[in-house]
Amino acid sequence: MFNFEYYAPTRVIFGRDAEQRTGALLRELGVSRVLIHYGRGSAVKSGLLDRVSASLDGAGIAHTSLGGVVPNPRVSKVREGAQLARQFGAELILAVGGGSVIDSSKAIGYAVAEPEHDVWEIYDRKRAPKACLPVACVLTIAAAGSEMSNSSVITNEDTGEKRGYRSDLCRPKLAIMNPELTATLPPYQTAAGCTDILMHTLERYFTQGGNMELTDQIAGGLMRTVMKNALILRDDPANYDARAEVMWASSLSHNDLTGLGANGMDFASHGLEHELGGMFDVTHGAGLSAVWPSWARYVYRDCLPRFVKFARDVMGVEPGASDEETALQGIAALEDFFRSIHMPVTLRELGVEPTEEQILAMAASFAGSAGGKKGTAKELYEADMAAIYRMAL
Ligand code: NZQ
Ligand code: ZN
Repeated sequence: MFNFEYYAPTRVIFGRDAEQRTGALLRELGVSRVLIHYGRGSAVKSGLLDRVSASLDGAGIAHTSLGGVVPNPRVSKVREGAQLARQFGAELILAVGGGSVIDSSKAIGYAVAEPEHDVWEIYDRKRAPKACLPVACVLTIAAAGSEMSNSSVITNEDTGEKRGYRSDLCRPKLAIMNPELTATLPPYQTAAGCTDILMHTLERYFTQGGNMELTDQIAGGLMRTVMKNALILRDDPANYDARAEVMWASSLSHNDLTGLGANGMDFASHGLEHELGGMFDVTHGAGLSAVWPSWARYVYRDCLPRFVKFARDVMGVEPGASDEETALQGIAALEDFFRSIHMPVTLRELGVEPTEEQILAMAASFAGSAGGKKGTAKELYEADMAAIYRMAL
């Protein structure tokens, strides 16, 4: 097992009616002025925003709000939110929504804390943030894991760049998670969310070396639980227990727990998806399932023991005539799972058909933002990235 540091400071409030406690919980944090940030309307339509506002009123917390966050959240909305938060004197940004709203809130937190700089410089790797206004969230979709992660992903609509940034400064102080709130999700978003959850553990699983018995058991248990409950939700979207399992998995899959002791993280599939998100505005989880099978078939020989272990322990594949055959069967089994929850496994199925010029542009942009190479299962360079996009067509 490799050395590691584990930091998961977010206070989690989980279960039915959890959002009713929002005001009291923020009071405990000593907060009296809040910017509520939300998306394009689902939280308004469901009445959640009203319930959260009432809870803040009940606790004597002054609040203003800003909606309109879109999936692949835009830096222009972040700048707007930062200006409003400063004018209002907000002491905390309360995200009511999913990964996009939470990430936009984290970025607003960075922007408010250092008003003398433009916030995009952080995502563009021009400077590191020194501070972030506290963020809390009422989660409405199990997917990105932003509720406990140190990451935020923002898109610059002027340049078409989608860029993530990791810093413990932005980890939410509080994550309020009521699985019932996810029952209004369209089936496609539920499935894309389950895919993203799986992927956050997969990105930590395919690494080189390390003997991680406990971490592998946690990772395997998480992935099997997510696959089982994704199928339950496909057929019975109102199933509370399945919603709850998946929601808790979303947090644990991306708060680093499932990769502790590993020799780094891969995250190449995420990098490939981020370029697709920036160029074509695709749903994150669906973009991941569209590239993962091609990524896996491109890299598995360089990480064969882990692919064999994955096939056997996670996908329940019987060992084949050779390790290569077992590994390929494991990849095919996960691909079949993606199909079974109606997720795309090629770019065409995702609804995008990049030209050769666009493929080269995405590969150059990914390689450039990653400092030339990405991946631990196999180090990928620009030409490898382009080859995987071509395979995924
Ligand atoms: O905008 P509204 O109307 O709220 O609709 C949203 C949106 O259209 C809808 N939705 C959310 N909760 C709902 C609901 N509809 C009905 N009922 C509900 N309860 O779902 C759609 C997707 O929402 P979004 O927040 O975009 O989903 P997700 O949580 O998957 O977040 C995706 C974003 O997170 C980034 C992705 O790249 C993408 O930009 N990621 C963030 C990470 C992080 N910060 O740690 C890690 C991830 O790997 C990921 O990259
Ligand atoms: Zn993700």
